[in-house]
Formats: sequence, C-alpha cells, structure tokens
Amino acid sequence: MPERPNADVLTKPDVALEMTLRPSLFSEFTGQAKVKERLEISVQAARQRGEPLDHILLNGPPGLGKTTLANIIAKSMGGNLKTTSGPTIEKASDLAGLLTNLEEGDLLFIDEIHRLQKTIEEYLYPAMEDFKLDIIIDQGPNARSIRLNLPRFTLIGATTRSGLLSAPLLTRFPVRERVDYYTAEQLQKIVIRSAHLLGIEIDEQGGLEIARRSRGTPRIANNLLKRVRDYAQVRGDGRISMETADRALALLEIDQHGLDEMDKRILEAIVLKFGGGPVGVSSLAVAVGEEPDTIEEVYEPYLIMEGYLNRTSQGRVVTELAYQRLGLVGRGSAQPRLL
Ligand SMILES: Nc1ncnc2c1ncn2[C@@H]1O[C@H](COP(=O)(O)OP(=O)(O)O)[C@@H](O)[C@H]1O
Ligand SMILES: [Mg+2]
Repeated sequence: MPERPNADVLTKPDVALEMTLRPSLFSEFTGQAKVKERLEISVQAARQRGEPLDHILLNGPPGLGKTTLANIIAKSMGGNLKTTSGPTIEKASDLAGLLTNLEEGDLLFIDEIHRLQKTIEEYLYPAMEDFKLDIIIDQGPNARSIRLNLPRFTLIGATTRSGLLSAPLLTRFPVRERVDYYTAEQLQKIVIRSAHLLGIEIDEQGGLEIARRSRGTPRIANNLLKRVRDYAQVRGDGRISMETADRALALLEIDQHGLDEMDKRILEAIVLKFGGGPVGVSSLAVAVGEEPDTIEEVYEPYLIMEGYLNRTSQGRVVTELAYQRLGLVGRGSAQPRLL
C-alpha cells in the first residue's frame, strides 16, 4: 500500500504529546462554546446540590476533544475518572468489576461506547438508572440473580457513531452533546497555545496556515505543528512562518484546501471508478484500501461538511466542488478525466 502521510496523524495519536497539550480546565478549552457552557452549568449545578453529575454522552468525529472534555468534567467535579473503552469490556464480569470498584462521585469514562456488546449493554441499564447491578451467580439449576447496590457514579460515554447506539442506551444519557469541527480561527488559537507549551517559535500567519489545513481537528493540528516544526528546524531557521508551514504541508501532501491524501483518494475513486456515484461505502472502501468504518467515521464527515460529498439513500455522491478541487472535468461532460 502506498505511503499515506496523514493516515497516522488521524488514527495514531502521539500519547505523550496529547498528555502535555490537553487542556485540563474549561477555560483552556477553545471552541465548542455552547457545549462548554451547557456542561459547565451542569457541573456547577450538580456541585451546588452536592450530587453526582447526570450521565453524559459525547458524540463526534475523532480528535475533536471528547476525551479532553471527559477529563475536564471530572476535574471540575473533583471526582476520579476511571477510563475504559467499549471493545475492552469483553464479558459482563469485566463491567461488573469496573462498576463495583467505583466510589461515590466517581466518573466512569467509556470510550467508543458504540462498540460495547449488546449483552453487556443490558447490564448497564439498571446501573445507570437505579445504580443497581443484577449479576448471576452459580450455574445450572443453582443459578440465581442477585442485585448489588452501586455507589452513585456518573457515566461519560464517548462515541464517533451515536447512530449505532441502541435507543435504550441513548435515552439513559440525560445529557447528550455533539462536538463539531473547529473553525480555522479556533484551531489557530490551539496551534499557538500548543507551540508555546512546546517552546516552538511561530507567528500568527504560520499558526493560521497549519490551522487551515488541519481538517478542522485539534489532534491533527497538534500533530502537524510538530511535523512543521521538524521541517522548519532542518530546512529553515527553526521558526514557523506562513511560508515554512506551506512548504512543510505541501511536502506532507496536504493541499491548499486542507484535503489530505486519503480525502483526495476517496473523491478520485468515486469520480473515476464509480462515475461520480452513487456508490456504497463497502465498494468505496475496497477501491481506496481503507476500512469502511474509518471512511464513515473519519473521512466522510469532513468531506460532507466541506461540501465535497453527499450521502444519499443509494450511496455516496461527489459534488461539483469535488470535481473542481480535483482538477477534473465535471459531471456534465461525457467522460470525467484528469485535466
Ligand atoms: N478544544 C480544544 N482546545 C485545545 N486543545 C484541544 C481541544 N480539543 C482537543 N484538543 C487537543 O486535541 C487532542 C485530541 O483531543 P481528544 O480529546 O483526545 O479527542 P477525541 O477524544 O474526541 O478523539 C487533545 O490531546 C488536545 O491536545
Ligand atoms: Mg478520545
């Protein structure tokens, strides 16, 4: 498979980097103003009443701040955050272990909660609603169910695909928030803050250039900042200006509009192999050599938001804008081709 410079930027976060750059207070968290305000109100209200916070579901594409928000919420509640994820809970007893180890006021963070098995999900319902856990002990004719009381805890769920959550689970989250892509100006603030924390010299325009080309995503912006820094150090004077950022990003094959290699590959495949669409996500996935889930969770939402792609009941269709950006002759002509 050909080298895809931006793919690991999207999927393999640099853990140490995220630890240093992750804001730990609402006041340091840029953007998502409404979400932030509503969450801050919930936190303050719960604190005033001396009660645990209601369960919260955070939904949105990867790298937009869901884990960061979960940590900020826990910190501002003054509670412990215990972290796990949907796929790592394999058996009902794993979940029982987690829940019975919680203390009053603890927060349990389940990342990728849409990947929780249905059978395990059912144990969560009474736990979330009544702070009770029904477990089955013994086997065969002696099997019986006992009910355990749990401490009052808060569940924070994060998902990139809330559409895959079952209705009973969804409705047990009184607070549901969606994080969205950031504007270039918000990302510029984030890039400049990160540069300060990492001791990188950058000017406003250099910050904006990285921000503009980060697919609206803080995680990508932070990763690109590090790569541009490397470039500036080896090929420039160490400082990040607009020119250095532009040259470094071009080398990473991130174009002027912020589309990365996979974005372009997806759009090109729909145009050249599927006549502009409609095409189903699984055929598309095979054509570009990527997982259907990744296409749906990571690439599509951005391409749709930017107006390159539409999702119809028959499948994915590219827009006129996509033809323009790819430098292709539009749908109107008989045979789309590279100019
Ligand atoms: N609003 C924000 N302000 C500043 N940095 C942010 C913000 N949102 C995310 N980040 C940065 O992006 C990284 C990825 O965010 P994360 O919370 O892990 O995303 P998610 O859990 O949604 O995939 C974090 O480590 C943090 O450095
Ligand atoms: Mg996360």
